[in-house]
Amino acid sequence: MFTSNDPMTLNLIEIRKDFPILDRELRPGVRLTYLDTTATAQKPLAVINAMDDFYRRSNANIHRGVHTLAEEATTLYENARERIAKFINAESARQVIYTRNTTESINLVAYTWARANLKPGDLVILTEMEHHSNLVPWHMLQAERGIELDFIPVTQDGLLDLVTYGMLLERNPKLVSFTHMSNVLGTINPAAEMIRLAHEAGAIVLVDGAQSVPHLKVDMQALDADFYAFSAHKMCGPTGIGVLYGKTALLESMPPFLGGGDMIKEVKLRSFRANTLPHKFEAGTPAIAEAVGFGVAVDYLTNLGMDNIAAHEHEITEYALERLEEIPGVKLFGPSADKKGGVASFTLEGVHPHDVAQILDRDGIAVRAGHHCAQPLHEKFGIPATSRASFYLYNTKEEVDLLVNGIYTVKKMFG
Ligand code: ALA
Repeated sequence: MFTSNDPMTLNLIEIRKDFPILDRELRPGVRLTYLDTTATAQKPLAVINAMDDFYRRSNANIHRGVHTLAEEATTLYENARERIAKFINAESARQVIYTRNTTESINLVAYTWARANLKPGDLVILTEMEHHSNLVPWHMLQAERGIELDFIPVTQDGLLDLVTYGMLLERNPKLVSFTHMSNVLGTINPAAEMIRLAHEAGAIVLVDGAQSVPHLKVDMQALDADFYAFSAHKMCGPTGIGVLYGKTALLESMPPFLGGGDMIKEVKLRSFRANTLPHKFEAGTPAIAEAVGFGVAVDYLTNLGMDNIAAHEHEITEYALERLEEIPGVKLFGPSADKKGGVASFTLEGVHPHDVAQILDRDGIAVRAGHHCAQPLHEKFGIPATSRASFYLYNTKEEVDLLVNGIYTVKKMFG
């Protein structure tokens, strides 16, 4: 169990007790050091218990029955949506569409809004730091529809080149789609300003918030994005559920995405009428227990306070960058701690990132190695892969020290 008295913003001794997995011994004497939250976050007992409780007590399908369990399940599912809407300060829960994840949310926009509104030659602006999820749907639309894609470049410091962004906006893009926080560089992009500029240029804006919503306070009304996508599993919730937030008028104007139960108002043999928001985009039996868990994850983060979580992560990240920088042969990617979230991607001279990750794993240290679903960004930096340590509300400076010691072990092994 973690027992440090190092004073930090969050009470780590108490918080770590909420995450049973953090006490796991992977092998005799080898405790887990989990530094891979950017891939997926660990789950607190409150979330695990809420989902367990749902299946033990309330399991039923939603919006389909009048019996007690069906009503209870529907209420739990819809209450979670209300709390998620509040968490991101959406005007209404009708703007919160449950999807499977961020990827599906982005695809929903590409398949509905974009296919209804974009024609050959229309410009979509993306960035060089996008996750494949915010590249491939647009590549597919380019092949199908002949839209044009252009990219805001990334500087050597890992920031977006906003001067070039200004020039791209002069070409009247129809859509600007970018990540709020890079999953490789950790860069927190100036989303509000970028959205304002895109709107001035007449473009619709989609934001990939997979990495930002778990770590920062995000406010839909202040940001003013037209669409905003995120996943539960990176913010202490379960896998299999995410959100597409959208402005009401846009969501109402869009054709539905998948067809089937729950998204219909009325079906005739040869036609159908779509349901109202948010159900219009939720075909089939959804991830009900996952929605319940998602709502509890949001409660958990709200109770800790997003500002406290961000402050804690900043402290850990600053410390991690400082310590990693001291190691000869380590090259860090991305901006300084004041411009980024809790991500440290690095290479170690003479050692493949996969070898780094594998040797760290012997000491129970979980980091990700590879291109992190951002191959073009790695190409930009002239490297095939990085090792990536990422930090969340449950990580400690002691874990950063274990990572640093682990990297010294790797260096020793590789001479
Ligand atoms: N997008 C996730 C990551 O960066 C899976 O690891």
